[in-house]
Amino acid sequence: MKSKPVMTFQPGSKSAEFDPAQTVLEVALSTGIGLSHSCGGMASCGTCRIEVIRGVERLEPRNEVEAEMASAFGWRSDERLACQTLAVDGLVVMVPDLDMGED
Ligand code: FES
Repeated sequence: MKSKPVMTFQPGSKSAEFDPAQTVLEVALSTGIGLSHSCGGMASCGTCRIEVIRGVERLEPRNEVEAEMASAFGWRSDERLACQTLAVDGLVVMVPDLDMGED
C-alpha cells in the first residue's frame, strides 16, 4: 500500500499526512495546527502567511491573487499564503506566531 504524502510544520516539527489537492492551510487545520486564517481562505487577509523551509522549488507558482499580495507586501519567494498553496510531499514550512495551544 502506498503511503500518504507527508509535510511538516515548524516550530515543533509536527508532521502531517495529507490527501492530494489539499492546501497547506487545510492540512494545518486538519492536524490541529493553529494557523491563522482570518478571511477563511479567501486570499484577502494575509494572516495565513507561511515561510517555506524546504520544498519551495516543487510548489506550484503563485496564483494571481497571491502574487498580487506578495507584490504589495514585498514578500520573498519562500513566503506563501497557506490557503493558496497546495501541499507537496516533503514540504517543511514555518508558521510565524504559531499558537502552539500550550497552557
Ligand atoms: S486565510 Fe486569508 S489570505 Fe489565506
